[in-house]
Amino acid sequence: MFFGAVQLGLMAACVVLFVPMGMAGWHLSRNKVLFFSGALFITLAVFIHLIPYFPSFFPQTPSVMFQDPATSSCISSLNDVVFRPNSDGYLWDWDNTSNSRSYGCEFQKLGRVDVMDLLNGSWVVVAGDSQARLFVVGLLDLVLGADEMELIHGDLFKRHSDYHITVGEIGLKLDFIWAPYVANLSDVVVEFKRNGSYPDVLVMGSGLWHMLHFTNYSDYGVSLRLLRDSLNQLVPVRRKFEMESDSDPDSTRGMHLFWLGMPTLINGLLNTEEKRAKMTREMCDAYDHELYKSKILRRDGGSFLLLDVGTLSGKCGADCSLDGMHYSDVVYEASVHVMLNALLIESHQKL
Ligand SMILES: *[C@@H]1O[C@H](CO)[C@@H](O)[C@H](O)[C@H]1NC(C)=O
Ligand SMILES: *[C@@H]1O[C@H](CO)[C@@H](O)[C@H](O)[C@H]1NC(C)=O
Ligand SMILES: *[C@@H]1O[C@H](CO)[C@@H](O)[C@H](O)[C@H]1NC(C)=O
Ligand SMILES: *[C@@H]1O[C@H](CO)[C@@H](O)[C@H](O)[C@H]1NC(C)=O
Ligand SMILES: *[C@@H]1O[C@H](CO)[C@@H](O)[C@H](O)[C@H]1NC(C)=O
Repeated sequence: MFFGAVQLGLMAACVVLFVPMGMAGWHLSRNKVLFFSGALFITLAVFIHLIPYFPSFFPQTPSVMFQDPATSSCISSLNDVVFRPNSDGYLWDWDNTSNSRSYGCEFQKLGRVDVMDLLNGSWVVVAGDSQARLFVVGLLDLVLGADEMELIHGDLFKRHSDYHITVGEIGLKLDFIWAPYVANLSDVVVEFKRNGSYPDVLVMGSGLWHMLHFTNYSDYGVSLRLLRDSLNQLVPVRRKFEMESDSDPDSTRGMHLFWLGMPTLINGLLNTEEKRAKMTREMCDAYDHELYKSKILRRDGGSFLLLDVGTLSGKCGADCSLDGMHYSDVVYEASVHVMLNALLIESHQKL
């Protein structure tokens, strides 16, 4: 940009100098030359000051060129998923109609081998409430066989507890951390910092417990901002950590952060009177608004990419829901694939 500005300036100076001189050669009086000179100068000055407002006419600055526009628009349409009923439940896929936002992005449902390739040697941490646990189930379903899933099912669903697994063959380390409140998520972040070790992929999300037990959206917003602050403290450490280990390509990979959004609640299906009274449509909207206001999501300037369980579950609808709050596997499966495709795009890996 600097170079461009210098060139433009020189060009402008030449124009101001030589155009009136050329005109003088065409028998203009000195006053007229001065007049044209002045007029040209003012026109060019105005022009130059308008440039920043019309960047598309000019060569892009390096910081803009750095982002591939096709890729970033694909990232933002990852949640553009549709559900279709079939004989035993629902099928999901990205909306492939030609006017959808995800059209042409070539998102793909990854099979076991692809997921193994992508996550080989990675440390994945998923922290949150029961939605996050169902997300872990969706991820493990992709990398483990049905019989292995059967074996771990009991441990995985132990109420209110953490769960750790290493999938030996591919060196995938997966931790689920029970964190029903955003304050618990902040604690996890603080612990990463204290331990000095950071996962490759971090998926976080909570809100339902807060809505039920505190029913105070502004307090939820306060806790989200505290989480954002603790993450911000983490990022410089991470950068430093990356620079120190420049020689080791493996540890220079950045952390990939995902926010697991709250599901769409179906009030009439909620299984207690307390839930039906407190977890209303209006309260859900207010909690959503706090998420937006906290600027914790990447689309608002933060660091988490949204796994939009709210939209996904809403599209799947009441028939997909067991209790108005938890949905059938297909919704979490779709959100796992949203995450995996984001990782694919961000790591520029081709399968
Ligand atoms: C979109 O996907 C559906 C189901 O996977 C398929 O039947 C249909 O042919 C696809 N349409 C286009 C335009 O690719
Ligand atoms: C995982 O990575 C290791 C080391 O890079 C490699 O030897 C192994 O074959 C990979 N496994 C899979 C399943 O990709
Ligand atoms: C989560 O945070 C709440 C409120 O700060 C606290 O009472 C609870 O013990 C925490 N739970 C876990 C699992 O850390
Ligand atoms: C921090 O390290 C301790 C001890 O190794 C471990 O038990 C704990 O799970 C780690 N915490 C996180 C959030 O990784
Ligand atoms: C809601 O939370 C805010 C912020 O923590 C607090 O100031 C306010 O008193 C709370 N409101 C109620 C009704 O508890």
